[in-house]
Amino acid sequence: MSGAYQRLKQAIAGEPLPLALVDLDALDRNFDRLLASARGKKLRIASKSVRCPALLRYLADRAGPAVIGLMTYTAAETEFLASEGWKDLLLAYPTVQPSDLQALVRANQHGTAAVAVDSAEQTDALSVAAAAAGVSVPVVIDVDMSYRPIEALHLGVRRSPLRSAAAVVALARRILTSPSLRLHGLQAYEAQIAGMTDDNPFKRLLKLLSRPQVERRRSALARALAAEGLALPLFNGGGSGSVSWAAGEAALTELTVGSGFLASHLFDHYRDLQLEPAAYFALQVTRAPTAGIVTCLGGGLVASGEAGPDRLPLPALPPGLKLLPLEGAGEVQTPLRVPAGTRLGLGDPVFFRHAKAGELAEHFNEYLLIRGDRLESRVPTYRGLGRCFLG
Ligand SMILES: Cc1ncc(COP(=O)(O)O)c(C=O)c1O
Repeated sequence: MSGAYQRLKQAIAGEPLPLALVDLDALDRNFDRLLASARGKKLRIASKSVRCPALLRYLADRAGPAVIGLMTYTAAETEFLASEGWKDLLLAYPTVQPSDLQALVRANQHGTAAVAVDSAEQTDALSVAAAAAGVSVPVVIDVDMSYRPIEALHLGVRRSPLRSAAAVVALARRILTSPSLRLHGLQAYEAQIAGMTDDNPFKRLLKLLSRPQVERRRSALARALAAEGLALPLFNGGGSGSVSWAAGEAALTELTVGSGFLASHLFDHYRDLQLEPAAYFALQVTRAPTAGIVTCLGGGLVASGEAGPDRLPLPALPPGLKLLPLEGAGEVQTPLRVPAGTRLGLGDPVFFRHAKAGELAEHFNEYLLIRGDRLESRVPTYRGLGRCFLG
């Protein structure tokens, strides 16, 4: 049986299953690699890809000034993190819901909690809420970075409608007219590069073709705003999948990194990223239906995104286990084909990896933090704290 399996098995001996764990040694190494790839550019940690306050704190403390703050994913979460003492937050996803706007206003009473906008409607709603509370809210304009070799072809995500520098300048001017808003910066996330794996030649080509356009457009945006006399403190871009490339871009003041820390299994398929699995969930073997197959209790932790087999959890340790194509990862039972030479008895743990880094935390109240073959501590996830921000 592999050394990695024996080590993790030893670390969780006697713990009731299922459980979720973080391998701190692997997390530290991932952290060091990502930090080195950023080549001095400041990092902003995507909280959606961690969803555990103690781990966010662990990463930020380890980085010191290299991490400037967090990229958050809901207004309620932003307020929660602000109340926990985080001073530099950026909510990357716009909202007009009144309760969200109130939460953002309150978050700004603790520190800087900026929010992304991409329309006049969002901007005006925020302006009214901030004015009513007598608070100034920093605003970041979110710009679409999809690859559009011709106008009719859109290769990327569907988020912001803002594409041209003129449209961004027009929204910037509108923000400047509001006494309760502060124009804080730009956000321009190249999802078709950072969020797409290199597992087929078409994707690889798309990424290569898209890069120069993204770089040109981000630098043109910075120039257009400078020409308006607007020197903005923040220009955010990048993601775990593009950190080493985006680090070279002069226009960006900071890079977002999230999933790369825990290295969920979708991140195995990036050519330029050398990361190690740092988060697992462990299930118990409860049945042996026939020779060469064991069945675990639980397992159906399927990830978001375009539905497909890559969203299923990956049985990782012991190595060589395979899901059965007709059953996949089940709601309560997950059968696995066991390779020759591997012996798993009833009660033994099997370690799985989730496809996405943050979503694992939605299924467990705590992470067991492992160092070497020892259980160092246990820390609550958002779920364990009774916080469910998006589900
Ligand atoms: C705005 C934005 N920036 C950056 C990222 C990258 O996050 P991660 O490093 O977890 O892939 C994402 C992920 O969806 C995002 O939405």
